[in-house]
Amino acid sequence: MDGKRWIREMSVYQIWPRSFCDGHGDGIGDLWGVLGKLDYIKSLGVDAIWFSPLYPSPNADFGYDIADYKNIHPDYGNLEVFREVLEGAHERGLRVFMDLVVNHTSDEHPWFVESRKSRDNPYHDYYFWRPGRKRNGKTLPPNNWTSIFEGGAWEYDEGLDEFYLHLFAKKQPDLNMDNPRVRQEVKDIMRFWLDMGVDGFREDVITFISKAPGLPNSYPPSPIANGMKYYVNRPEAHQYLAEFKREVLDHYDCFTVGESPLTTADTALRYISEGPDQVLDEMIGFSHMEADCFMTDVIQRPFNLRKMKKAFSEWQMKLQDRAWPALYIENHDHPRIISRYGSELYRTESGKMLAAMYILQRGTPFIYQGQEIGMLNISLPRLEDYPDVMAQNNARILSHFLPKKKVLDIIRRSSRDSARTPVQWSAEKNAGFSTHEPWLRVNENYKQINVAAQEKDPNSLLNFYRALLQFRKDNSAALYGDYREHYPESSDFYVYERRSEEQRLLVICSFSSELKRFDAPEGIDLERWQLVLHNYDVNFIIENGYTARPYELRVYQTKTGI
Ligand code: GLC
Repeated sequence: MDGKRWIREMSVYQIWPRSFCDGHGDGIGDLWGVLGKLDYIKSLGVDAIWFSPLYPSPNADFGYDIADYKNIHPDYGNLEVFREVLEGAHERGLRVFMDLVVNHTSDEHPWFVESRKSRDNPYHDYYFWRPGRKRNGKTLPPNNWTSIFEGGAWEYDEGLDEFYLHLFAKKQPDLNMDNPRVRQEVKDIMRFWLDMGVDGFREDVITFISKAPGLPNSYPPSPIANGMKYYVNRPEAHQYLAEFKREVLDHYDCFTVGESPLTTADTALRYISEGPDQVLDEMIGFSHMEADCFMTDVIQRPFNLRKMKKAFSEWQMKLQDRAWPALYIENHDHPRIISRYGSELYRTESGKMLAAMYILQRGTPFIYQGQEIGMLNISLPRLEDYPDVMAQNNARILSHFLPKKKVLDIIRRSSRDSARTPVQWSAEKNAGFSTHEPWLRVNENYKQINVAAQEKDPNSLLNFYRALLQFRKDNSAALYGDYREHYPESSDFYVYERRSEEQRLLVICSFSSELKRFDAPEGIDLERWQLVLHNYDVNFIIENGYTARPYELRVYQTKTGI
């Protein structure tokens, strides 16, 4: 594999700007806040920052509805302060990636405003405007697709007597990427940021950017996102990405990672396999985030370790020698991981175990703001307190057939808002996030869980993340070793090995809240291996194994050939 070394060896910190740090006292995170935290970010040992959208946006989907691709939201600052952040990051050796959201725009974007003026407006064909279907004197939407966020996928416009397509919220009309002028705009946007010095893009729902010609009805109808078979991973998506790469990205030393809901490892390989058909550096898959739900966080199931392991191992094995994985367990789209796959009771132990569990796999680790201190889900008193469009939509649908209390329980467990509460910097007022009342409630646990307290504690989760990221950097097996799973059938342990020419690593993660006996896999004599990372103080080996304590993590290392 001959991909770029810096991509292979980096780890990335994700900032969701509205809740990261408020630098000018209005209760909303901003770029001045980021400026003040660059040293902190650097101190984690990461190599890059990915910013969730910073652009002007009416915030129907908190920035993922963009009204101007070449500017900064006034809530967050302006281009000048963005340039300062970029420079400050670069001075510290941190690269900066922007979120590129081009499957859709905001309905307040000037292109859309123009497009709805008349059928012959030059921007009309930037979007999917279609006449309705007439049935018994009624006008029905152009097809039976449903949106991922809000009811049907079509919205009627009286002035035009046409409907526009929105796969997400009504305020997020889909761009028509088949139009070469739209692709030209995307290339311009890319060049604008790359010329400024930005180092790459995380490309939002990039596998949705082509829709089947004729936008056919979808049968049999699926309960969620009906129509997806006509817009996920179509061949043209690959073709358009190849065009962006050839005409723009290849001319810069930059990085791209595509977000790809509903994509399997096999499908991801079409985009990221090294070779002439590679169009993205990495792909963000979703399957490992579905170990306690079905397709979406709102359809909940009990946590199933084997399901999680199967998903991780499938991506690891299929991408081995062919492509480089993107690794994550948190981002702005999922509730907090300790509350899901770990244990709030064993917060620090399970937080450390989960961190090593994914960071020591082969790939580029992404760490989401607040994950490094073990922030937990928030439990808000009322449904109305959850601002996310997805939470509100889910609450509306569930309320048709479930009592309000049950709906509230489900939203508390599944809402993306849990990942979006202000970062807990200290035990001071508003968790040190802002001098003003924050735009979203701070989690009440901020007095116990905050950066300042963990800075002082050598055994904190925060300091474990630092040690872990440094360990990964220094260890050839962690960086480049092959991946091999042991005991795939176990419902208590996730155990895998990484092996390079020089070193072997054995990662042993207990996912149980009870004591569980662990026996070393055949051929491994633990006494001859060195314990290099762990989350409990005293670590005996008895008869080539041990009784694992709740969420215990042990990472052993040896030289290859022993
Ligand atoms: C992606 C983003 C998510 C957003 C959606 C629509 O999944 O990560 O936050 O709501 O796309 O843009």
